Amino acid sequence: MPTERKAVFLFFGGTGDLAYRKLYPSLFNLYRKGNLRSHFAVIGTSRAKLDDDKFRAAIKKSLADSGNRTDSKEANDFISHFYYQDHDVTDTAHYAVLKELMDKLDKKYKAEGHRIFYLSMAPQFFGTIAQDLKTQGLLADGKDAFNRLVIEKPFGRDYDSAKLLNDALSKSFDENQIFRIDHYLGKEMIQNIEALRFGNTLVESLWNNRYIDNIQVTLSEKLGVEERASYYDNSGALRDMVQNHIMQIVSLLAMEQPVAFTDTDIRAEKVKALRSLRVYNVADAATNFVRGQYGSINDQADYRHEDNVPHDSTTETFVAGKLLFDNYRWSGTPFYIRTGKMLADKFTRVDVVFKRPLVDIFAFPQSQNTPLTANVLTIFVEPHAGFSLQLNAKTNDTGFSTEPIKLDYLVDAQKSKDTPEPYERLLHDVLKGDGTNFSSWPEVSYAWKFVDQIRRVWDLQEPQFPNYTPHSMGPAAAEELIQRDHREWVYRLNN
Ligand code: NDP
Ligand code: BG6
Repeated sequence: MPTERKAVFLFFGGTGDLAYRKLYPSLFNLYRKGNLRSHFAVIGTSRAKLDDDKFRAAIKKSLADSGNRTDSKEANDFISHFYYQDHDVTDTAHYAVLKELMDKLDKKYKAEGHRIFYLSMAPQFFGTIAQDLKTQGLLADGKDAFNRLVIEKPFGRDYDSAKLLNDALSKSFDENQIFRIDHYLGKEMIQNIEALRFGNTLVESLWNNRYIDNIQVTLSEKLGVEERASYYDNSGALRDMVQNHIMQIVSLLAMEQPVAFTDTDIRAEKVKALRSLRVYNVADAATNFVRGQYGSINDQADYRHEDNVPHDSTTETFVAGKLLFDNYRWSGTPFYIRTGKMLADKFTRVDVVFKRPLVDIFAFPQSQNTPLTANVLTIFVEPHAGFSLQLNAKTNDTGFSTEPIKLDYLVDAQKSKDTPEPYERLLHDVLKGDGTNFSSWPEVSYAWKFVDQIRRVWDLQEPQFPNYTPHSMGPAAAEELIQRDHREWVYRLNN
């Protein structure tokens, strides 16, 4: 039986794309499962002049657009918990209206004073909102009532701006009240990294530089920048994907076993891992990271001719890099990462490449056998979820040759359909007060310090863009980066 959670939600940016497309449908799933029942209310705010009825009609559409039936009593009961208040976040005096509404709904739904403030709008407002929530008395002050602040990405655009933002938030909220969203941490197979590692002796006992040759993390996107150019062109792939999603995945792969499966213990280990990540000097940053920008093909415009992109943009739409940890577990075992837009396909995967056997006895003395291949453990994150382990086995014949075979586990279609969306999990975690799958400030700050150094070096040089063909796996430099180390990407086009 699911535990019912109680809270009044206040969504800033309550009429925005993210709220309608992801957040409200996720709340509905929590309602259908019984995590939310009677004791909750949702207030949406923005500058638009709407009333409750119009807002509820928009919620109905949001549920319908995400594939829900909306003519049921269940859907209508859920929607009846939604309220709207127009509000400009820069108008401090107007917070009194929100306070009154929150207090009223708290009493009406007996939410026991619990409050969740979700900032789903442009990041330049995060600091002001957090400050006004406190000074204008919106924070619950009951002994057992909680206040939780959920922050969307991006969290700053470099270490300095992230620190300023964090300092502003910290004036109103303690670290354990702040939930910084990284939706990759809500993905089933990213969460599965911990189960795979710490639930299997077979895996964890080999999870180090003695047995692992290298680890590859690929977040590949098929689409281009679409309609988000005004945001993306100021960000680029390094800030948009590497600083957050990739650094989070890498820290889960690299961390030591936590003392216990709690948010505090897991975060402590991720931070320790990030602290041992080598921050590159200028020369190493230039050698170990490469960038790209997509060109044109057939009807596909190059990045510089996408809507709202300046024709001389030097923003990267692709990044590949080598990360090195200076610690006992990983010294000498590189982590290669890559991500980009307009690549061959949309997928996320982690390939763990083990060292080849030290002696290949099957190659001696005059065997025609092909050399033993490296064992590879692949974690398929999306679109299909599962694992694959490549081993060497004997071929099925009278001679003695070996061939690589794969042990595959793919989550079946029904299970995949029933898998909660990242935002549903993350909202549930916020209701529970579990910070495991959110980025803590120390993690964010170490990730920025690493990424800032790459950015600094790149900003010194004009890149030769465009430099990769749409639907490829990025520029030639990404191949050279790994080939230089006598290695290759496990996922290649046509394999
Ligand atoms: P939108 O631009 O769609 O929505 C912005 C919202 O903020 C609208 O409701 C807008 O309403 C409101 N708003 C803007 N200015 C003010 C103001 N001064 N006072 C009150 N409300 C205001 O943004 P998204 O929903 O796309 O993004 C929201 C956040 O989520 C951003 O931080 C983004 O980076 C992040 N995000 C979004 C993703 C997505 O898929 N959309 C994915 C990952 C992260 P109005 O203008 O009427 O006031
Ligand atoms: C977002 C980035 O954080 O992640 C987008 O801002 C990117 O640019 C998206 O497209 C990818 O997420 P997913 O879940 O589709 O892999």
